[in-house]
Amino acid sequence: MPATNIEDLISLCKRRGFIFQSSEIYGGTQGLYDYGPLGVELKNNIKNSWWKSVVYERDDVEGLDAAILTKQSVLMYSGHEETFTDPLVDCKSCGERFRADQVPDYCKKEDLTEPRQFNLMFKTNIGPVDDGKTFAYLRPETAQQIFINFKNVVDSTSRNVPFGIAQIGKAFRNEITLKSFIFRVREFEQMELEFFVVPGTDEDWHKKWVELRINWWEKQGVPKNSLELYEVPIDELAHYSKATVDIMYKFPHGVEELEGIANRTDFDLGSHSKNQDELSLKSKVSKNNESNAKLALKDENNNWMVPFVIEPSAGVDRAILAILNEAYHLEEIEDKERVVLKLKPHLSPIKAAIIPLKKNDEKIVKKAKEIKNKLQSLGMGRVLFENSGNIGKNYRRHDEIGTPICITIDFETLEEETVTVRDRDTMSQKRVSISDLEEVFKDLF
Ligand code: GAP
Repeated sequence: MPATNIEDLISLCKRRGFIFQSSEIYGGTQGLYDYGPLGVELKNNIKNSWWKSVVYERDDVEGLDAAILTKQSVLMYSGHEETFTDPLVDCKSCGERFRADQVPDYCKKEDLTEPRQFNLMFKTNIGPVDDGKTFAYLRPETAQQIFINFKNVVDSTSRNVPFGIAQIGKAFRNEITLKSFIFRVREFEQMELEFFVVPGTDEDWHKKWVELRINWWEKQGVPKNSLELYEVPIDELAHYSKATVDIMYKFPHGVEELEGIANRTDFDLGSHSKNQDELSLKSKVSKNNESNAKLALKDENNNWMVPFVIEPSAGVDRAILAILNEAYHLEEIEDKERVVLKLKPHLSPIKAAIIPLKKNDEKIVKKAKEIKNKLQSLGMGRVLFENSGNIGKNYRRHDEIGTPICITIDFETLEEETVTVRDRDTMSQKRVSISDLEEVFKDLF
């Protein structure tokens, strides 16, 4: 059973070093969080799992890691300067600002101003002169850098449709209303795929990507029955979208968007192209006088064709929240409570803890270090030599942080070349010969 409230997760994250409030020693900054020793491992494991499934296990996707600071023209032609806004209201009695559609219950809503549009993008200067003209934005989505690199990727890889470009990276939004720990924050990461297809095949690809993404979530420990699909109504669609399906998850605070899968049509490639009149665009774009490229391909009749784009876009931070929530279990064992994080082993921050039963016995410690080095060298992720606390405390800590197995080295190990392997979920222990340990470990993943 997942966690029943967000406080349990927040407390675990702080206590065990997954997530901390940013700038905490100066009172913290709202909407910003820092990932601690275990958080960074969990985050990397989620991103690696996404990259593996979207790039390595397919033969039709390339990767990209583009700049975060984004030239103003990019976000002007993408439509973000004009439309990436939320309606803002001020309450004259409580003195606070809210998103017009998200005024909390504690505000009496009696003395609210008329809504005005507030752009969510952060601006910053480039270069030493602040002349008000040469500013850049911190990108509000990773997608735009993919579109503006379309020609570079096509020219350097000779790709033709259908193919995709994937990117994982930071995005920034000056959100008016923050929500539920890391659910809605001002600095977050996205895992985005822009999948380019022949117009006319877009609806089929859209369906296919929804299915593929649900399967991926299941493999990360977020079961189908915790997910819902939401077809975004036409009047709520983003400016670039023909259709969007949101994958919704039952977060502790309610059912909300985990990932959006949009059919972005030819809007983005068309918007960033020169000579748009020659491209037979299906979507309505603003005239572009600054771009020096046609973001298009030639079809079999030598006519320009601007691919449609299917975009699965998932937030890493929301992934962490959903995965932690599903993994969190509070169990009662012999009148005692045990918190156990039943993470899928490929996501666990620590893959195995190697525990010498006697911390000051040289031979046992030496053997434990040998085993740690051997398992570490297999490249499955972090293996920890655990030389602190007593064995009971070590088991409790590793249950709480989701380590799939603890391997204990004792006197019998020295005599018989065997170790005790304890399973996190069942707490069962078995004696395993050191020569079989590598296989037992690899079988977890
Ligand atoms: N490129 C499309 C795009 O950015 P979006 O629905 O605005 O679409 C995609 O964002 C995903 O990014 C969301 O489903 C969510 O997981 C994540 N996300 C968006 N805003 C966020 C925020 N303020 N804090 C945390 N995650 C956010």
